[in-house]
Amino acid sequence: MNRRHLVAGNWKMNTSLEEGLNLLKTIALDYPKLKQNQELIIAPPYIHLSDFQKADLPKSIKIAAQNCASEHSGAYTGEVSPAMLADLNISYVILGHSERRSYFGESHDILKRKVDLSLEQGLTPIFCLGEQKEERQSGSFKTVLLKQLQDSVFHLDAESFSKLILAYEPVWAIGTGLTATAEQAEDTHNFIRQEIAKHYSETLADQCTILYGGSCKPSNADELFAQPNVDGGLIGGAALKSADFLAIAEALIRQKQ
Ligand code: PGA
Repeated sequence: MNRRHLVAGNWKMNTSLEEGLNLLKTIALDYPKLKQNQELIIAPPYIHLSDFQKADLPKSIKIAAQNCASEHSGAYTGEVSPAMLADLNISYVILGHSERRSYFGESHDILKRKVDLSLEQGLTPIFCLGEQKEERQSGSFKTVLLKQLQDSVFHLDAESFSKLILAYEPVWAIGTGLTATAEQAEDTHNFIRQEIAKHYSETLADQCTILYGGSCKPSNADELFAQPNVDGGLIGGAALKSADFLAIAEALIRQKQ
């Protein structure tokens, strides 16, 4: 097994350009020595992407967009297409974040289009999936997760699917301080991997990077990353403090080969 392990910081709608570049600089100066199959990813606000791409960054730090349009080009005021991101040499794009799904009404079908267009442009989607609190409590969460996979990414052929990164982000854990226990994360990641194995193959399932997101922080990162099916984290709040983000990166290095 040779999965990619990574820690990605989703800065959401935070930081001025100056604050963001300072934070990026601190991370780039102090980041721990990563192993060959490990990377750090930073997703700043859209408007800063171009400046971030120009920053002199080590090879193992990559820049991601937090979203992209579901159309290639045209009269879509305010939107930014995957082709425009590719033009800036952006490597990754976060898709299907629960905030996009719930506040901006992004349906499974819209996400499917975004996934397809991003892959066409050579971007790596970090595709988020996760259940609401009631769905966890009622036990229906696995059906919900499976539908998110089926409706937005399982139409891909095996080669295209192998380019995706998945991020399991239970909605009840995002920004709430409530983290899935390491056991819940492991059990859910294992479920997702089994579904990939059923739909594609054991090999593809084994190679797929599945991140955990939702109140991941220095105090729980080791325990989460120690789980065999958790390949790193998608970090929100804790990614805005360089010390916390770097401590989470160190946890990844400690826990993963
Ligand atoms: P959080 O956010 O770490 O602040 O819970 C995670 C995310 O939204 O990706």
